[in-house]
Amino acid sequence: MPQIPQTLHELSVGQLSARSGAAVSALHFYESKGLISSRRTSGNQRRYSRDALRRVAFVRAAQRVGIPLATIRDALASLPEERTPNRDDWARLSEAWRQELDERIKQLHRLRDHLTDCIGCGCLSLENCVLSNPDDISGERITGSRLMPERRRDPAAEEDGTG
Ligand code: FES
Repeated sequence: MPQIPQTLHELSVGQLSARSGAAVSALHFYESKGLISSRRTSGNQRRYSRDALRRVAFVRAAQRVGIPLATIRDALASLPEERTPNRDDWARLSEAWRQELDERIKQLHRLRDHLTDCIGCGCLSLENCVLSNPDDISGERITGSRLMPERRRDPAAEEDGTG
C-alpha cells in the first residue's frame, strides 16, 4: 500500500484509492452518499483532505460487518461538527454495532433452521412454510378457521331466526 507523505494535506481520488484500498468508483459512490467530501480544483479535479483516509477506513470497516450505508452516514452525521471518527468514536459505535451483528447472526441461525425444514419438502405452503410466508400474510401463524373465507351473512336467514 503506497505511503502518502505527511506533508501532503490533500489527496487526489487516485491517491485516496491507492492508499485506502477502495476503488475510485466506490469513493465516488461514498461521496454521492455524503460519507466523504472533496473540494474541486480550478481544473475541476477532486481533492480530499487527509482525514478522508480515516473516514473511508471507517466506512469500509462498518460495511464489512454489514452495517447499511444509511446507518453509517447517520453515525458520521451524529459526531460533533461531523468530525472524522476518532478512536473513542469508533470504539463506541463498534460496540453498538456488535449488538446488531449478534442479532443478525441469531436471525441467520433461525433462517438456517427454517431452510433445513424446507430441504426435501418443497411445499412452499403459505400455511406451513415460514420461509415462503415470512410475514405470515394471514396475520397469525396457522389457524385453520382464519384461513377459511368468512361465512356470508344471509339477511333472510337472520330475519326468520335461522341465521
Ligand atoms: S418448503 Fe415446505 S416447509 Fe418450506
